Amino acid sequence: MATRRQFIRIFGIGGAVAALGAGGITWAGSRGGMPESAIAPWQGPTEEITDPRLRAAATAILAPNPHNMQSWSIHLHGDDRLSLHVDLSRLLPDTDPFGRQILIGQGTFLELFRMAAAAEGWRAEMNLLPNGAFPQDRLDDRPVADIRLVRDTALRSDPLFAHHRARRSIKETFDTTRPVDDSELAIVAAEAGEGFRFHTTGDPAQRQALRDLAQRALVTEIETPRTLKESVDRMRIGPAEVAANPDGIDLLGPMMWWGTRLGFVSKQDILTPGTQSFQVGLDMARDQAQSAMAFGWLVTPDNSRQSQLVAGMRYLRLNLAATAAGVAMHPMSQLLQEFPEMTDLQRDFYRTVGVEAPQHVQMLVRFGHAERPGPSPRRPVHAIVAT
Ligand SMILES: Cc1cc2nc3c(=O)[nH]c(=O)nc-3n(C[C@H](O)[C@H](O)[C@H](O)COP(=O)(O)O)c2cc1C
Repeated sequence: MATRRQFIRIFGIGGAVAALGAGGITWAGSRGGMPESAIAPWQGPTEEITDPRLRAAATAILAPNPHNMQSWSIHLHGDDRLSLHVDLSRLLPDTDPFGRQILIGQGTFLELFRMAAAAEGWRAEMNLLPNGAFPQDRLDDRPVADIRLVRDTALRSDPLFAHHRARRSIKETFDTTRPVDDSELAIVAAEAGEGFRFHTTGDPAQRQALRDLAQRALVTEIETPRTLKESVDRMRIGPAEVAANPDGIDLLGPMMWWGTRLGFVSKQDILTPGTQSFQVGLDMARDQAQSAMAFGWLVTPDNSRQSQLVAGMRYLRLNLAATAAGVAMHPMSQLLQEFPEMTDLQRDFYRTVGVEAPQHVQMLVRFGHAERPGPSPRRPVHAIVAT
């Protein structure tokens, strides 16, 4: 196995972690070497797909979703109806024990589905949680939504839909010389919609408090072996793994390619405190959190399943509005996660943002500016169609 020193010598770089980070060994870095097949779904539905339900679903799979698990399963009924279910084989039991984030990721899908259908002249009539809400502590196989498509030629495309292919969760280090304007934040916050509030801050004191909390929460997730393992198990390292499994956390870039070949990067290293790869995770936590130029958090009146689902629908709109405004947006969910090691930090976070039960923070994001990376992988739409 190559040592860090050998690795740096081979590539003629110094500055260890910073240089490695810039070169691509980050957990969130460059998407160089992305296999074409893994991002083909971003071209939209192919002409062979004629069923309007599948055409809308082929766009809805581009929605943001936790750990890119794409935990969606659609069942087609008759000619014009479908139901959306959670793919229970694609959950995050350690960091999302109650499935709250997974349910938000169902909401993002539904909102993009609605927009995609409307763009082709179909009104998507949605009945949310038609067989009743999931229990608060687990998801099951009941439908998230029943949907019927109705022809409606008077429908107009939602202006935000124009940005769905450019939308990203931008995980890069942000440019700390470029502030985020209040006007940019206001464009985003306007999409919180009825009953929900999206609060933002760029105030230096509150921002620094949130940077520090977000960093500590990420470090907690990394230093808790089972929550780190949950992420590492879902990492796809290098083009071959990404092509074979176009989901999860994609790690690409030329130095990642070399790193795996030289034995410098392995899943076992990433899991092992003291290794360079483990350190890269801690450095990423610092760089992501401390480069936040503003924060935003989406607050719902309660933490019901309905609120979680609708929060996902609103979050999709917030993310598209950020894309339209040209500001980079990145969810940092660790402080919101319901595993016991996070409880104290979560309490501090709620105090810092002044939110009290029964209100609930469903999403926390950082804002800034960074070069837009390429799109993240998606499975083809037929992978989510139940047979
Ligand atoms: C509910 C939810 C929580 C998320 N939490 C995080 C997070 O904590 N950290 C992160 O880097 N990305 C987070 N994301 C973003 C996803 O990782 C991202 O949507 C997914 O990898 C697909 O990438 P894309 O949004 O660029 O298409 C979250 C997304 C959702 C919907």
